[in-house]
Amino acid sequence: MSAPLLELRNLHVRAEGNDILRGVDLIVRAGEVHALMGPNGAGKSTLANVVMGHPGYDVTEGQILLNGEDIATWSTDERARAGIFLAFQYPEAISGISVVQFLRQAIAARKQLEELSVLEVRMDLMEWMDRLGMDPAFAERHLNDGFSGGERKRNEVLQMALLDPVLAFLDETDSGLDIDALRVVARGVRTVREARPSMGIVVVTHYVKLLEEILPDQVHILVDGRIEHSGGPELAEEIEAKGYDAWRPVTT
Ligand SMILES: Nc1ncnc2c1ncn2[C@@H]1O[C@H](COP(=O)(O)OP(=O)(O)O)[C@@H](O)[C@H]1O
Ligand SMILES: [Mg+2]
Repeated sequence: MSAPLLELRNLHVRAEGNDILRGVDLIVRAGEVHALMGPNGAGKSTLANVVMGHPGYDVTEGQILLNGEDIATWSTDERARAGIFLAFQYPEAISGISVVQFLRQAIAARKQLEELSVLEVRMDLMEWMDRLGMDPAFAERHLNDGFSGGERKRNEVLQMALLDPVLAFLDETDSGLDIDALRVVARGVRTVREARPSMGIVVVTHYVKLLEEILPDQVHILVDGRIEHSGGPELAEEIEAKGYDAWRPVTT
């Protein structure tokens, strides 16, 4: 078994006085796909944000290790340069920037280059859009200009494929995903995984359906800031039958 790529040890996280994560242990190895599942408000997005170094969260206890090194004090930029990726949640109102322009900026930032060849980015992009079964016209669309949930997810999956991170988080949007968007995520994860076999991927979702399509190496059920159960994709059936309540600790 390879050494851990990401290791969370007894991670406790607080934001605005609330204890959100309360002792999370998690190991993701290179090439593994993990699904982080759980009800709304469990702390799934918080976990992704805190690994990315989002400034709104305080680590009050525990460690975040990337390839064995504690990165808890690193800035978001340093983490991005080290190859951690969290699909960029741009504000609703960015207008006038096309998908291809946006991706070119994102790749330049990740690879620390001033300028990137427009042609090269476009070739890469076209190749990936083809692999992911996307219409080439999508590259010219303006960000957020009437994007459906599926199109937003396409943009995120393209970012992940082109930026080639060592560890990628794909978080669900708060507004929920339609079936089209779920397919985009599932297909995107499978395709990127084939092409980038050493990437570690954590898919954050509360959709059981997604599990059946992605077939992750491990599934973790996060409830009230703790991973209450981990298993394989077969957990989908159990979650469907019992709901997340089955994993809520009994309170007396
Ligand atoms: N920046 C923040 N400041 C204060 N509370 C937060 C912040 N982010 C998340 N929370 C709270 O933490 C809990 C977990 O949120 P979140 O991680 O978004 O859950 P999930 O993604 O599983 O739905 C929620 O109660 C949410 O209101
Ligand atoms: Mg969330």
